[in-house]
Amino acid sequence: MGDSEIEVVEIEHAGMVSSLLLRGHAGGGGPGTGYLLARLRQREVGVLMFFETESGCACHLHELFVAPRWRRRGAGGALVRKALEISRERGYSHVTLLARPLGRIVSRTLLKRWYEQFGFEALPGDAEEMKLELRQK
Ligand SMILES: CC(C)(COP(=O)(O)OP(=O)(O)OC[C@H]1O[C@@H](n2cnc3c(N)ncnc32)[C@H](O)[C@@H]1OP(=O)(O)O)[C@@H](O)C(=O)NCCC(=O)NCCS
Repeated sequence: MGDSEIEVVEIEHAGMVSSLLLRGHAGGGGPGTGYLLARLRQREVGVLMFFETESGCACHLHELFVAPRWRRRGAGGALVRKALEISRERGYSHVTLLARPLGRIVSRTLLKRWYEQFGFEALPGDAEEMKLELRQK
């Protein structure tokens, strides 16, 4: 039986919804989770979420999104570079991600090529998974 005091309401703003959803993602909200926000001329234009993998030695870039009208101005690249800088500072051995485009504007092929500029390499046999080694084994 549920608690009879539960109330469900419709809300106008997504702020609380997204913060709860982010906490619900695998690893989201746990130790090592980070949320980056890109601002351009005082506007919030892009976000990137990352978290520490279960092994504790790697970082996974989980969500990257730049608002469509603010794309191709460097915000996406700046978010990825900041996440890599944090990963190096924390001493992670590598960074992983799934190159899975949200929406139709950017194809998976283009997205993978885009991630390659930061040093990510596609894993053989996997259409989406990419990895960047940060330190020699
Ligand atoms: C992928 C994404 C984050 C890139 O963000 P961004 O702020 O546009 O990236 P940058 O400005 O740093 O990089 C731009 C470069 O990427 C490439 N690029 C990005 N979008 C492109 C497009 N539609 N067509 C061709 N090249 C494109 C180009 O090389 C471009 O450089 P140029 O404009 O000088 O030609 C953004 O397109 C996005 O939010 N897409 C939807 C969400 C998504 O799919 N996220 C990835 C989940 S894994």
